[in-house]
Amino acid sequence: MMDVIPWGLNAELTDDQFFNRERDMLFLTKLLDSTKDGIPPALLLTGIRGVGKTALLNKLKNNLKKDYLIVYLDLSSSNNYQEDKLSRMAFMQLFYKRIIESCKEYGLKTIDKQIESWFKTHNISLKNIFNIDGVPVPIVGFEEDYTKLADFVMNLPRNIYEKYSDEMDGILIFIDEFQLIKDLDDETNGFLWYLRSFIQTEKNVSYTFTGSMSMEDSLLGEINGAKGAFGGRMLTYQIEPFSYETTKRYLIERAGHLEFSDDGFERFYKCTRGIPFYINTFVRFLMPGEILDNEKVSLEFANVLPFLAINLINDWKNLSKQEQKIITTLLDEPLRRVDIARNLDVTSGAIGASLNNLLNKGLIMYEESRYAVSDRILSAWLKNEYDRRGVYPYRDF
Ligand SMILES: Nc1ncnc2c1ncn2[C@@H]1O[C@H](COP(=O)(O)OP(=O)(O)OP(=O)(O)O)[C@@H](O)[C@H]1O
Ligand SMILES: [Mg+2]
Repeated sequence: MMDVIPWGLNAELTDDQFFNRERDMLFLTKLLDSTKDGIPPALLLTGIRGVGKTALLNKLKNNLKKDYLIVYLDLSSSNNYQEDKLSRMAFMQLFYKRIIESCKEYGLKTIDKQIESWFKTHNISLKNIFNIDGVPVPIVGFEEDYTKLADFVMNLPRNIYEKYSDEMDGILIFIDEFQLIKDLDDETNGFLWYLRSFIQTEKNVSYTFTGSMSMEDSLLGEINGAKGAFGGRMLTYQIEPFSYETTKRYLIERAGHLEFSDDGFERFYKCTRGIPFYINTFVRFLMPGEILDNEKVSLEFANVLPFLAINLINDWKNLSKQEQKIITTLLDEPLRRVDIARNLDVTSGAIGASLNNLLNKGLIMYEESRYAVSDRILSAWLKNEYDRRGVYPYRDF
């Protein structure tokens, strides 16, 4: 029975595991499918961490992969990102690699030969081609070569469609963890405009961007705000957490072995806020045989916190000490920048970079001139650690 509750880190859910989202699926499938009529949508799927964006993308992919060549790329899987920060070049190399892999999965047998001939016509020298996991990837060092490569890669989907249009209805490109392009810092905006110059003229290639972004995220404005690169031409669609009722239905249908009292379920919903990642992780830890009331759920919540917070703890460990201090300063209430600085005993100017980094990582948000911790699970975990050990788990400890 537990098999129908996926683990929190499963990104590809079976049909039995995938719950709810019928309306999202219907709407998005229909929209994406208009690519075959030559009106490809450009989509931006937003939603907080763990809400199920990647799971939804995978489901869409499975539904559409017969008719469309689907290229899924996860920016966090870029080698470059793993080591340091995402760069434009790393983006292009990853994109290129995933295009080729997808062509092979789709069964386009002549693609290697075809690519080679395109390299030649684009004057990309073959001696610069490296093999990454069996896919030849051109590596170029100079800035003008970057431009050449980037133009080549961005035109590739269109060229593939033109060459193989008998075999597909179109090409769907899903770019996940798109918020990582904030790593490009000053270049982010220029890069978005660059992408747009290709995307907006596509006829049979659709782009869907997803990432954990809240509605307040400044990246949203840069992408799709009035002055943003896509200036409102991209359809923004928010993936919502499960509602109170949906969560209830989910537990009854998929975790019927657990028995909640009314206030126990209410507590469960307060703890998880309907976020599937939290719901599933929590459910996996609850034992049958005992009525789960408010008290019991609260108790178990404290035990499961390190698992709920697993991604957040990972982020936490990679923060500088100052960044960590800023977060603990914000645990009780949102604060203005000057007040944070005062608490840390430094000038307001001295925390600018840290604040930016925390905002970029989505760990804090800025609302009504105050900074606040974005995810209450992080706050709960930190407070819990403090209660247990008398100190926060700062970097040096
Ligand atoms: N429709 C669903 N039905 C059941 N469980 C789901 C559903 N969607 C997501 N989940 C659960 O939530 C977990 C997290 O989902 P997913 O990785 O898709 O979130 P995400 O929004 O992409 O998060 P992140 O921003 O961290 O990438 C999944 O591993 C799964 O356990
Ligand atoms: Mg995801």
